[in-house]
Amino acid sequence: MSQTVKGVISRRKGADVELVDVVVPDPGPGEAVVKIQACGVCHTDLHYKEGGINDDFPFLLGHEAAGIVEAVGDDVTEVKPGDFVILNWRAVCGQCRACRKGQPQYCFATHNAKQKMTLTDGTELTPALGIGAFIEKTLVAAGQCTKVDEADPAAVGLLGCGVMAGFGAAVNTGEVKRGESVAVIGCGGVGDAAIAGAAIAGATTVIAVDIDDAKLEQAKQFGATHTVNSSRTDPIEAIRELTGGNGADVVVEAVGRPETYEQAFYARDLAGRVVLVGVPTPDKQVTLPMIDIFGRGGALKSSWYGDCLPSRDFPMLVDLYKQGRFDLDAFVSERIGLGDIEAAFAKMARGEVLRSVVEL
Ligand code: APR
Ligand code: ZN
Ligand code: ZN
Repeated sequence: MSQTVKGVISRRKGADVELVDVVVPDPGPGEAVVKIQACGVCHTDLHYKEGGINDDFPFLLGHEAAGIVEAVGDDVTEVKPGDFVILNWRAVCGQCRACRKGQPQYCFATHNAKQKMTLTDGTELTPALGIGAFIEKTLVAAGQCTKVDEADPAAVGLLGCGVMAGFGAAVNTGEVKRGESVAVIGCGGVGDAAIAGAAIAGATTVIAVDIDDAKLEQAKQFGATHTVNSSRTDPIEAIRELTGGNGADVVVEAVGRPETYEQAFYARDLAGRVVLVGVPTPDKQVTLPMIDIFGRGGALKSSWYGDCLPSRDFPMLVDLYKQGRFDLDAFVSERIGLGDIEAAFAKMARGEVLRSVVEL
């Protein structure tokens, strides 16, 4: 048995996305079918479409989503039909060396649904980040579902990717502590979430750095105490000045470019932490004098998915949202339909939105 629903695919490299019929199998053992209520449009979806991730076209796009579990297969204990869930793209195995060491955020055997969703002619689809959520209903591994309290799906669905990545970069990877100074370079959805995370963790100085004044203005609403426009002012000097000449305790780089990584490296305090959450393309290189690396303590860290543990972090962040302490609504720039995704990609590329969110 299976059902046929509407979904958005990228059929071949660079082509516009298409709204098509997709066949969703009934959930097998360890799998769940989720009725999608909302899904954010993320840079990674655009990268898939442009062929920047791999060539396994056609892709079923979308991966920052929330919805209701419709059905589960055998042996599913994580969730049951009717549960409101946020989807994650790292269902950890619990058995690999990283998981056994108590570091599931580094699990190297994460899993997705085994069965494939297909086009009506039988062509198998590759779901973006193992999810594929620009669709009325999707098939995932049950471990990709985290049950949370009911809340606006458009807002909390964003915890499934970009917002979690940014928040976790500051809080989990950067381990921001009360009273610390934090600089965030790049104030898109990811950087703004890092700013919110730093503020919630108790940082007293939160410096937003961007090249766009409108983005800097918006960053204040997430908790930035200072802003620096790095197209006009040297951000390294500005951050040092704002931190008593020392540099920031934590610098989060949320752009993914060599020049911003270098800024992050030099803007940190001698014992500060640099967290790279902006995703560089494989061709990017940085060259740093060894003496400068030697001459500083602290840490250079990358943050993948904000080092999150969905079962720990998603419910906590939904609580903060419902208490009015973490403004997820402010990340939702527009609410759109399944037919508007191509236009949303264009707005994202022009830097006009934090997040466009598809509602179903
Ligand atoms: N210096 C400072 N800020 C910059 C620079 C720069 N040289 N170049 C771009 N920016 C700013 C943009 O003005 C924008 O505000 O970085 C921000 C990037 O935001 P978005 O394009 O909305 O991207 P976002 O979704 O936040 O993701 C940022 O993290 O997860 C990764 O793949 C993602 O690499 C991307 C990064
Ligand atoms: Zn594992
Ligand atoms: Zn994403």
